[in-house]
Amino acid sequence: MSAPVHLWSVASARDAALLEPLARAVFGDGQRPRGWFDRKLARECVVPERSLVVSRSRDPAEAGAWIGYGLLGRPASLGSTARTAGIGLRPAWRGRGLGRRLVGALLEQARADGADAMLTPASEDAVPFYERCGMQPHQVTHTLLAFGRGAATPPISEPWDAPTPGPTCSGWFREAWERTRARATLRVCGGRDRFDVSFEGTAHVAMRWTSADGLPQGPRAWLNAVPEGAPALLHEVPADAPFLSGLVDGEWTAVQTTVAMRASWAESTAG
Ligand SMILES: CC(C)(COP(=O)(O)OP(=O)(O)OC[C@H]1O[C@@H](n2cnc3c(N)ncnc32)[C@H](O)[C@@H]1OP(=O)(O)O)[C@@H](O)C(=O)NCCC(=O)NCCS
Repeated sequence: MSAPVHLWSVASARDAALLEPLARAVFGDGQRPRGWFDRKLARECVVPERSLVVSRSRDPAEAGAWIGYGLLGRPASLGSTARTAGIGLRPAWRGRGLGRRLVGALLEQARADGADAMLTPASEDAVPFYERCGMQPHQVTHTLLAFGRGAATPPISEPWDAPTPGPTCSGWFREAWERTRARATLRVCGGRDRFDVSFEGTAHVAMRWTSADGLPQGPRAWLNAVPEGAPALLHEVPADAPFLSGLVDGEWTAVQTTVAMRASWAESTAG
């Protein structure tokens, strides 16, 4: 018979930052910039008390026994929706029902924290798994890549909440931008478009694009404010956005697809 597996809160496992080697074992080493894990915890507003580590040990702090984790964040800008920031198991422990148990426990943690829904960004491959866990696809987004063709434009310093030229066309939530150390706001096209940009190594990442008209010309013009040859990423463009085809027919390429999975337990007050 296999040994029992425990789910401990990350807070009881001491410091969430200690999960970094496990994260590399689960998701691969890749080309990760220094400090990526600490930054992820901060900008995705991870709550250690509500996040879980899967362990073979009765001692939550025994890092050598950790075999997986599920991080739960509570960005204030998402209101009563909790958001997961990474769910995974070491390869040898997959396919035994532990993933489903972990997601179930995270849903309980979200509920206990006062949330009425939980959002999980997932790769397309993982969608059937989350459906087995009772979650439904909520929104599909693409992250688009192009390369700068201009000189670096001096950023302007504006808070996220400063008036924008129009509604949000693409992007992430406020905290992810605010909690990224090096950041800038850029306005292009005579103020018809605004890009809230963070810098990840040489890459310029538009964490949010707001626009008066939502035309593909806006992101194209932004590339003039990105140094020649530097990667520019437009984060989380909705797959059903009318401007998407105009962008990918031009110089932008979809490099990542994310399916936001959602479970909700808010009681209907209607009727
Ligand atoms: C995704 C992950 C957490 C699933 O955990 P797991 O322990 O392997 O999954 P479970 O054994 O609990 O599977 C639960 C159900 O989902 C199904 N399932 C799991 N992964 C699946 C997949 N990739 N495609 C289709 N079905 C899948 C299982 O067959 C099982 O179905 P059942 O209800 O018929 O028994 C794990 O595979 C993992 O860590 N993967 C790498 C990291 C990752 O991809 N994380 C999520 C991406 S955002």
